[in-house]
Amino acid sequence: MQRVFSGIQPSGIPTLGNYLGAIRNWVALQAEHDCLYCVVDLHAITTWQEPETLRQQTRELAAAIIACGVDPERHILFHQSAVPAHARLAWIFNCVARIGWLNRMTQFKDKAGKDREAASAGLYVYPNLMAADILAYHATRVPVGDDQKQHLELANDIAQKFNHDYATPFFPLIEPLIMPEAARVMSLRDGTKKMSKSDPSDQSRINLGDDADAIAGKIRKARTDAEPLPSDPEGLEGRAEARNLVGIYGALAGMTPAAVLAEYGGQGFAGFKDALAALTVAKLTPIGAETKRLLADPGYIDRLLFDGAARAGAIANPIVAEAERLVGFLQRPSV
Ligand code: AMP
Ligand code: TRP
Repeated sequence: MQRVFSGIQPSGIPTLGNYLGAIRNWVALQAEHDCLYCVVDLHAITTWQEPETLRQQTRELAAAIIACGVDPERHILFHQSAVPAHARLAWIFNCVARIGWLNRMTQFKDKAGKDREAASAGLYVYPNLMAADILAYHATRVPVGDDQKQHLELANDIAQKFNHDYATPFFPLIEPLIMPEAARVMSLRDGTKKMSKSDPSDQSRINLGDDADAIAGKIRKARTDAEPLPSDPEGLEGRAEARNLVGIYGALAGMTPAAVLAEYGGQGFAGFKDALAALTVAKLTPIGAETKRLLADPGYIDRLLFDGAARAGAIANPIVAEAERLVGFLQRPSV
């Protein structure tokens, strides 16, 4: 059975973009794979996180992932810092990856902003740690949104170079699993920017914990243009905001954009937004309620994450120990 691995940063409350682009796919893959899902706190601190907030967001994110339908007993849900194998393999990958490869990463350029000299070294080598996350489990299938594709290509370059340098096909190639309909959910304020949990404007995104009023308010105020909805998807060309709302509706309702427009084409945005708000409220508020319920027992999520970490470590430790042996590190003598 092919192993699935994916991760998400505890750097804020997860958004509708995380849900439609990634977590929903995580849930679906459970039926036919062994899955590992990781709250990547090591990745989160590549940009400053207030410590107490990071701790709380790690728990909230884990609870939200379970509320979305990930089963932490049949599969593995854990936080990255609790499995040191990730950091051990990441160091080896820091020495395998080339600076030239990292210089091409567009996410680094976006996140570092104008003052690249002031970015943390961790932000720069972030993709090496991501490659280690996946390859420490010999996972081959990785569900992500389309912004992560470049990182997965880099992970494959690292795996190939390792295999070449140490003359053994030790690491498998990985395959990105990208949901085409919701690969990129865009900001509600600007249809050219992706919806992000780190966007300074809360109006730009729908959070998984938002209540019905907040969801309806944000959708009602979402930016649109003055034209009515077109009657077919070609008419969405050059209309980023309209395309985004139609895409969200389709992804939530399980309909193609063409089917959505067959129903709403020719109408103004007001009625469509009401329908979209009702649909979003119906899909997301049960997730928010279940997240709250799970967080009400303070120790529960922590116990669950550490239990997941123990099971994850049992898979990763022998793989990373073998990578260390291939590199030429001494092996622990058997007693
Ligand atoms: P992050 O929030 O950056 O930790 O991303 C976690 C996962 O959610 C990754 O697989 C991303 O590709 C996915 N994701 C984040 N934002 C979006 C978005 N706006 N649309 C689609 N997928 C997204
Ligand atoms: N870099 C990913 C993001 O920001 C999160 C991530 C970390 C990840 N490690 C991973 C995703 C391993 C898939 C597999 O979205």
